[in-house]
Amino acid sequence: MSKERTQAIPAFIDLAAQQEHLGDTVERAISAVLKHGQFILGPEVVELERQLAAFCGARHCVSCANGTDALLLALMAEGVGKGDAVFVPAFTFVATVEVAVLAGATPVFVDVRRDTFNLDVESLEAAIGEAKRRGLKPRCVIPVDLYGQPADYRAIRKIAEAHDLLVIADAAQSFGASLDGRKVGTLAAYTATSFYPSKPLGGYGDGGAVFTDDDARAARLLSLRNHGKGPNRPETEHVGLNSRLDSIQAAILLEKLRLFPGEIVARQEKADRYSQGLAAVVEVPRLMAGASSVWAQYTIITEDRNALAKACREAGVPTAIHYTSALDRLPPYRQVLAPPAGLRQAEWLAERVISLPMHPYLTDAMQDLVVGTVQSALSPRRVNTAHAAE
Ligand SMILES: Cc1ncc(COP(=O)(O)O)c(C=O)c1O
Repeated sequence: MSKERTQAIPAFIDLAAQQEHLGDTVERAISAVLKHGQFILGPEVVELERQLAAFCGARHCVSCANGTDALLLALMAEGVGKGDAVFVPAFTFVATVEVAVLAGATPVFVDVRRDTFNLDVESLEAAIGEAKRRGLKPRCVIPVDLYGQPADYRAIRKIAEAHDLLVIADAAQSFGASLDGRKVGTLAAYTATSFYPSKPLGGYGDGGAVFTDDDARAARLLSLRNHGKGPNRPETEHVGLNSRLDSIQAAILLEKLRLFPGEIVARQEKADRYSQGLAAVVEVPRLMAGASSVWAQYTIITEDRNALAKACREAGVPTAIHYTSALDRLPPYRQVLAPPAGLRQAEWLAERVISLPMHPYLTDAMQDLVVGTVQSALSPRRVNTAHAAE
């Protein structure tokens, strides 16, 4: 433990620390947009799309207004709607299920795995069976890369092929991660991400993007994000959205993208340091073989969440809970279909997860404070031997 151990941590995700590294580059980039005045879909948007596609190796990147729209645009581009079942994990941010309803389709919940927090493929198969029994057409699965780690796309792809399901990756938290050497953005037919400020690659406002390798799909997305207008003609050809990215956000993201590769490395170092200090007292996050994470969150599992949150508060360590309830417990989604075995892991995790401060600019002293606080609040180790949901 270092001497500065008692220093409190300024923020759960410290964007001010990142600003110091950005210097005045963001101000200059914003000034350039003020000068040219193309505030919507300006040259920075085109350049950002080019750089993001190159970054992840996808053929196309279509930016849009936020990560929720990115998911919705992918569903709209495939005409997913009435009578179609859309499979979504029950332990995720609410946007993942919301878009299925907004598209006019029927969401079906799927349970998640305790070890990765991501979609459980056995539960997915059971959910597909349940949807068929209810007369729905299994159409699409939206795996979520929770906390920054890709879902098990190897296994999901096999099930999707067997049942003719479209895969739309919800990569709102995972842009920059990879699986088997392939970057997020190339692991599914469509990949939707978010540039919400606290995301690993975040702007200073809302923003999102969809990645695809398919030219026709990209053309539909481009049209749908701009009221269904054609590429060279102003008239509307489809029912679309106003979901364009602002040039100012694109300019900011271009500057942040320069720091992003180094930040991804730093995030992994911070995660490793947490795991070394905490694995003896609490259940720490694990990566699948072949997967890398961008550690949008560093999330631990504990039976003593309230006591831990209190100890952290008293020590000046901010914590957050993503998510305090499984989606099937939220009022608008209580009637959503689920597999016969239920959503036990999702519900179990919602009562036990807690996230620690995570960003690339955490100092060793800050991490020591977090580790020391968690160690004294939780030792001895409680969770790994008590698999309550198993
Ligand atoms: C898993 C997940 N899906 C979708 C979204 C929606 O992104 P946005 O807030 O940009 O609409 C978020 C982020 O908030 C998310 O974490």
